[in-house]
Amino acid sequence: MRTRTLGRTGPAVSALGLGCMGMSAVYGAADDAESIATIHAALDAGIDLLDTGDFYAMGLNELLIRDALRARPGSREQAVISVKFGALRDAAGGWGGYDGRPAAVRNFLAYSLNRLGTDHVDVYRIARVDPAVPIEETVGAIAEEVQAGRVRHIGLSEVGAETLRRAAATAPICDLQIEYSLFSRGIEESILPTARELGIGVTAYGVLSRGLLSGHWTKERGTDPTDFRNRSPRFSGDHLDRNLLLVEALREVAEGKGVTVAQAAIAWVLSRGEDIVPLIGARRRDRLAESLGALDVALDASDLAAVEAAVPADAVSGTRYDPAQMKHLDSER
Ligand SMILES: NC(=O)c1ccc[n+]([C@@H]2O[C@H](COP(=O)([O-])OP(=O)(O)OC[C@H]3O[C@@H](n4cnc5c(N)ncnc54)[C@H](OP(=O)(O)O)[C@@H]3O)[C@@H](O)[C@H]2O)c1
Repeated sequence: MRTRTLGRTGPAVSALGLGCMGMSAVYGAADDAESIATIHAALDAGIDLLDTGDFYAMGLNELLIRDALRARPGSREQAVISVKFGALRDAAGGWGGYDGRPAAVRNFLAYSLNRLGTDHVDVYRIARVDPAVPIEETVGAIAEEVQAGRVRHIGLSEVGAETLRRAAATAPICDLQIEYSLFSRGIEESILPTARELGIGVTAYGVLSRGLLSGHWTKERGTDPTDFRNRSPRFSGDHLDRNLLLVEALREVAEGKGVTVAQAAIAWVLSRGEDIVPLIGARRRDRLAESLGALDVALDASDLAAVEAAVPADAVSGTRYDPAQMKHLDSER
């Protein structure tokens, strides 16, 4: 497995990370046994970066990771666990904003450590900036946990260039987790250049645009009512029709190279720079195996031109979240 380093101050990790969110939440029903088998297959393949959030199924995703690691003695030491916190939930599955107060940071971390069955989190980050709390206070509280040995590195999620600068002036930041794909290129204008200037790496999520850009999505595919994609503008109505045409254009280019749509989409993100680590949202072993194949895809200049002609930078139809969720994105201000 090739490695990439998370920013100037972060750890070396596998060139692909495994995002575990869909194994417990967000994309409808999942299968715990298959999810654990997928985590084991990822570890076997050399993937060490595992991403979760304490609010993914209200702690169940962390418990799933704990169980997967416990079943493989020695794997906690191999794994680099990245945890997002801050989202406020309720028992009905609702969302109630974000809490980035220092006391909340300490509280969230204590619960995560217990659920994960570990004495430290490798990368800790607030999922969305709490507008009521200066980022310096939230990052400062995580920095105290670094001092105490309960966190190894500080990350950020979905923040804009200005917040990146303020956070980096407070404490060393290893990476920014943010959506980046052929369908979501918003970071290229100012966020990515600022991260590079500050020596902050990028862990890219939504590399397959949550499955839309995978080559496996069809209009006929049903989703259960809890699936995020039911509320995603890009998966609805005319937006979906237009976006699937882009996927078919990419399929033609991918097939010309002898690879799948998902592999072409992941290889494109990998090609954007050594400072970018795609997080793969596979929740089944077959999807993981397909994603791993992207590591062997070399896109030369003419391939890249063909890929970008098939999916031009601003061609996607629809915003990446619904209007209520867009309001929480510091990165979209
Ligand atoms: N910081 C943030 O705000 C934020 C937000 C979202 C996610 N994340 C993190 O990023 C990770 C990845 O995000 P994501 O799940 O949205 O990314 P993604 O990789 O764009 O989408 C994953 C979905 O694509 C489908 N898929 C089809 N072919 C696949 C293949 N070969 N490999 C993998 N998936 C394939 C699967 O859906 P089906 O199984 O339904 O086919 C899968 O659940 C998450 O697990 C989470 O840890 C962070």
